[in-house]
Amino acid sequence: MLQHKDHFHGSDLEKIEQIYGIKKDEITSFSANVNPLGISPLLRETLARHIDAICSYPDREYLSLRKCIADYVNTDYENIIMGNGSTELISLLIQIQHPKKALIIGPTYSEYEREISLGGGTCLYYPLKEEQDFALNAEHFTAQLNESIDLVVICNPNNPTSSAITRKTMRHILDVCKQNDIFVMVDETYVEFADNYEEITSVPLTAFYNNIVILRGTSKFFAAPGLRLGYAITGNRDFIKLMNTRKNPWTINSLAVIAGEIMFQDKEYIQKTRKLISEERARIYQIFSKDNRFKVYPPSGNFMLVRLMSEGLTSNELFDRAIREKMMIRDCSTFPFLDNKYIRFCFMSQEMNDQLLSCLMQ
Ligand SMILES: Cc1ncc(COP(=O)(O)O)c(C=O)c1O
Repeated sequence: MLQHKDHFHGSDLEKIEQIYGIKKDEITSFSANVNPLGISPLLRETLARHIDAICSYPDREYLSLRKCIADYVNTDYENIIMGNGSTELISLLIQIQHPKKALIIGPTYSEYEREISLGGGTCLYYPLKEEQDFALNAEHFTAQLNESIDLVVICNPNNPTSSAITRKTMRHILDVCKQNDIFVMVDETYVEFADNYEEITSVPLTAFYNNIVILRGTSKFFAAPGLRLGYAITGNRDFIKLMNTRKNPWTINSLAVIAGEIMFQDKEYIQKTRKLISEERARIYQIFSKDNRFKVYPPSGNFMLVRLMSEGLTSNELFDRAIREKMMIRDCSTFPFLDNKYIRFCFMSQEMNDQLLSCLMQ
């Protein structure tokens, strides 16, 4: 068996091809957390017809796209700023805020820490507790906040735990952060997959709080990671001005603009995605809950964290077993606070999920 110290990011299929000799086109990625339905059919039908758009520069202000997104998330278009994937926005936000000390709720996506450290800031982690199913204890968390912290980072639903916090809890956190002059970055990359979307999205709070910026993208829910289309939502117009001053012009290309305008309006595809993920999430969670070789945590996103309870079975072994059957899962041993007893996988079609289940549960 191959021992890989390095973890594979959900998109590292090239690396797998090199190491395992399996063609990347043959691998089903259960680790990229991308909608299994592929791109919106409306987008597939329409985009090619707009190819001539690349002959001109996109609108520098992205007005029409921002209006589409504002309709989609139910806010004012002036609260929206576009980015080349949410990755560009994470980076910009951190460069502008330039936190000396940031508090990240973890285990979580590693890009926040990388970006904060690159800017010379210190990252502290507030650990979610396994005994509490990785759900946040908001009272305990807010008691740790003080004026020495400049930035709080919350991924909601969180990658890799798939746990989520409600808007009510978020409001409490924002109040305490406001008192301590702390800015809050909320990454909602996975929020559209949640059954209780209305209860957990923080978008309505941007009308009342000026210390929150929400990040969203199209890579996961709209299955378009290659498009590099992300956006941020904030009610803090001064912050948007700062972002615009700092940002390079035209980081969203003309085709991505048109793609965005089409996909956010494909209601049928959006509904179909939510239904598929909701059904598969409930079904697979149930199956794992009944098997005492595994421990699962209630998932809100389109993926699930699983703890391996059998003695001797490691995440590395399961990764290896699945990849030999051309299925790639995430070995979570490199996440802070997790170890080689945790794996994560996303929900794909029912048939693919069944294939993964028989591989993992044999
Ligand atoms: C929580 C989270 N935020 C952001 C990203 C990056 O998203 P994008 O492709 O929009 O830059 C990822 C990708 O895996 C992620 O898991």
